[in-house]
Amino acid sequence: MLTGNASCSLICLWLVISGALLETVDNMERNETASEKPIRQSHSLCAGEQEYVNRRKRVVLESLNSLEINCSEDSVPHIALLASGGGQRAALGLMGSLYQMEKDGLLNTLLYLGGVSGSTWSMSSLYSDPQWSTNMDRAVSKLFGPGVELEQALAWLDERAKDELFSLSDILGVLTSAGLMKQLDLRCLSDEASRNATNPFPIYSAIEKQCFSDGPLEGKWFEVSPHEAGFTELDLFIETSLLGSKFQIGELLEQEPEMDMVRLQGILGCALAHEDIIRDFIPPWLNVPGHVDKVAEEYVYVVSTLDTLVGVIRSTIKDPVAQSDLNKMQKILKDKLIHNESTLLESKSLEERKILFQQWSLELLKAVATWSQSLEDGAFRTHVSLLTNKVIPLIMKWEWGTTRNFLYQYKDSTVPSCLRSEEIFHLVDAGMLINVAYPPFLGDKRDIDLIIALEYSAGNMFETLTLARDYAAEVKKPFPEIDDKILEDKDWPKDCYVFEGKEKEPTIVYMPLFNRQNCEDAEVFKAKMEEFATFKHPFSDENIQALLEMAKANMKNNKETLLREINKAILRRQNKRQGWA
Ligand SMILES: *[C@@H]1O[C@H](CO)[C@@H](O)[C@H](O)[C@H]1NC(C)=O
Ligand SMILES: *[C@@H]1O[C@H](CO)[C@@H](O)[C@H](O)[C@H]1NC(C)=O
Ligand SMILES: *[C@@H]1O[C@H](CO)[C@@H](O)[C@H](O)[C@H]1NC(C)=O
Ligand SMILES: *[C@@H]1O[C@H](CO)[C@@H](O)[C@H](O)[C@H]1NC(C)=O
Repeated sequence: MLTGNASCSLICLWLVISGALLETVDNMERNETASEKPIRQSHSLCAGEQEYVNRRKRVVLESLNSLEINCSEDSVPHIALLASGGGQRAALGLMGSLYQMEKDGLLNTLLYLGGVSGSTWSMSSLYSDPQWSTNMDRAVSKLFGPGVELEQALAWLDERAKDELFSLSDILGVLTSAGLMKQLDLRCLSDEASRNATNPFPIYSAIEKQCFSDGPLEGKWFEVSPHEAGFTELDLFIETSLLGSKFQIGELLEQEPEMDMVRLQGILGCALAHEDIIRDFIPPWLNVPGHVDKVAEEYVYVVSTLDTLVGVIRSTIKDPVAQSDLNKMQKILKDKLIHNESTLLESKSLEERKILFQQWSLELLKAVATWSQSLEDGAFRTHVSLLTNKVIPLIMKWEWGTTRNFLYQYKDSTVPSCLRSEEIFHLVDAGMLINVAYPPFLGDKRDIDLIIALEYSAGNMFETLTLARDYAAEVKKPFPEIDDKILEDKDWPKDCYVFEGKEKEPTIVYMPLFNRQNCEDAEVFKAKMEEFATFKHPFSDENIQALLEMAKANMKNNKETLLREINKAILRRQNKRQGWA
């Protein structure tokens, strides 16, 4: 954690950066002759993950024994905890849930931990401590600061901005990391590859933007672990340390330094591109259901990006003058959206609307520039103009998650052309496809017996489940039956549902954050969803505490269900071993 006064911190930061650079150079030299074939195509686990899983299973077995659950070495169940996205709400929810699991002795029954979007922010924060599973108190107390100084965040940004692949994700990464998770962790994910099995094996998910928009399903889901990064359904992977390096026709042309966790966090959780969040920003006059056209959406993106930036900046500063300046900015943004222009829009053709929205976007950016020039001279103004100077050009380009494409010109007909044709691809928030990371955990590869799905999403309850069910059907992987009857509960769900898997299907325990236990009726449920909506206004310490407590209580109230399902998962594994499956 970086604390202390600004000048000391900058020096510390510099030391960390230069340390990281030296280490990378060192690794690169050592790895020059490493592997002949840098792209691995296989349905099975890579050696590093397999070895980790074997070691982790011994930890799981010990923990089952201490819960007095009868289990033998060869029937250790494969349990994955999957945390949904949902901005800061999800990040905090996951913290609270894991905290309670540790207290109840359940945390070490987990083989895997999978996240998307907001939950990856807390994952990257948790795993900065190699022993986090043994000390959730420490992880939780970090949420209450002290934070990272804005200077430090900006120093990181300044450095990043020199890279040709600098994108909006980088900005979101540094702001969510510093502003919400209160840390700036410059480790790389592959640094974790050599760790022991104290924690569940982490898998982060993203999607590739181009294929997401107009490619086949196989080209969409992307997973990253400390060992490998690649496309889940194509079974094509590279070492995580090579993500961002230059490839052509399957050959490694030039190794680049691996991205740090701040950047990765920005890619995984650029939740702004997430429609749940965008939906919150769409003003009623633009929100004709089903008809928010693409150009209107882009305008809303611009406004919401700015609003989010302002919100996250607020969370890093205490100075009342700066706070009041930021309030002014937020008012400017709000005014732009409040004014009902629907009559004007109705009379325009699509082409004319496009031009109009672009004009509005430009006006908005100009308003931001004018606002930042009006600030009093001083550190705050310097920071703000530095930030806006970097942000505005990027918003105009609207580039997210720009990363070098390791499948560039890859000769394999199974690889869709949306992945082969460009030197770079764009990795973005997977919540846009499914807001829970089911894909890496379906099918034989990881052979999961039990999925504990923690639902922190906004939007329609159970949607992540039905989307995952449809996804599984499309890629022909087993998934338990989801009775559509549950949809009747969507406005006021229970705190726990069990969808029992048969044979090769995993069982899913589905746990909504807001539910009948903590909301007395559907009205309160709706109100809670709104109170804790998105992350556009970072939560107060009281809200953080309240959310943590709710997540803890959910876990605590359902301990018996979890124990029962863990027992069943062991039986299932025994049966699998005996070969009925
Ligand atoms: C270098 O190669 C070793 C062995 O293949 C691997 O464990 C390590 O993660 C690699 N490091 C980098 C930076 O590529
Ligand atoms: C535990 O498992 C062993 C071996 O499968 C069995 O012999 C024993 O009866 C079981 N004990 C309990 C309490 O179920
Ligand atoms: C992992 O390493 C830490 C520190 O070296 C040690 O305290 C812990 O017991 C180890 N855990 C496992 C599961 O090996
Ligand atoms: C916006 O104005 C139009 C036309 O005056 C009106 O029909 C519509 O209801 C208004 N929308 C909102 C959300 O106020």
